[in-house]
Amino acid sequence: MSKHTTALGIDIGGSGIKGAIVDLKKGEFSTKRKKILTPKPATPEAVIAIVAQLVAHFADDLDKDSAVGVTVPAVVQHGLVRSAANIDPSWIDFEGEGALRKALGRDVALVNDADAAGYAELLYGAAKDEDGLVILTTLGTGIGSALMYRNMLVPNSELGHLEIDGHDAEKEAASSVKDTLGLTYEQYVPRLQRYYSVVEALFSPDLFVVGGGISKDSDQFLPLLKLRTPIVAATLQNRAGIIGAARLAQEAAHG
Ligand code: BGC
Repeated sequence: MSKHTTALGIDIGGSGIKGAIVDLKKGEFSTKRKKILTPKPATPEAVIAIVAQLVAHFADDLDKDSAVGVTVPAVVQHGLVRSAANIDPSWIDFEGEGALRKALGRDVALVNDADAAGYAELLYGAAKDEDGLVILTTLGTGIGSALMYRNMLVPNSELGHLEIDGHDAEKEAASSVKDTLGLTYEQYVPRLQRYYSVVEALFSPDLFVVGGGISKDSDQFLPLLKLRTPIVAATLQNRAGIIGAARLAQEAAHG
């Protein structure tokens, strides 16, 4: 890692846009987290204005050449946002990284939210000692995924959109489905079982990591899943996106 041992991470979510400065040696926040409500509609312009507010909030604690990592719940290919399953459709084909760089006057990495969370779990959390194929899935409004092998992140895997039994997988197995239908964990588990069995058959991972808000209740559903792949809960909880984004930004800017 370069001399830059801190970076700012910002996580753009459906309800809040959250940021904190991250100590990249420890993989921990070095400041308190600050949250601002996500604007409605969450157009790129409105969201970038909030991100700029967050950067201004942390400016005194941030080196002037420190990078900023920003997550979005979408495919991001070389800075260009390519999808918008659970965000405002105006993000599609938006050159998000360039626009943020211009607005903030800093090095910026714009990354998929699950990729950021997965990379953080790989370097600092639940997948820390795993060198093989790791698949992190986040269960929330949708299903996000991160595919990692030998400490490298393969970006934009989008395994939440596998078509399973004729359905977009996240529409059947995301934790929002459990909430909407009022399912108990026992009733929800068959949906997870089907989902993880398919992913396991396709990828033969060495480890599954399950993130998203629901991972705090992991003891109520992970032991019920029958898989040959070990499956564990994420350990960084809602800090993972911010930590991973900060780390990816620092690597992109300073190597
Ligand atoms: C999006 C992914 C995102 C996931 C979790 C999915 O609907 O397609 O890009 O990572 O939701 O937010």
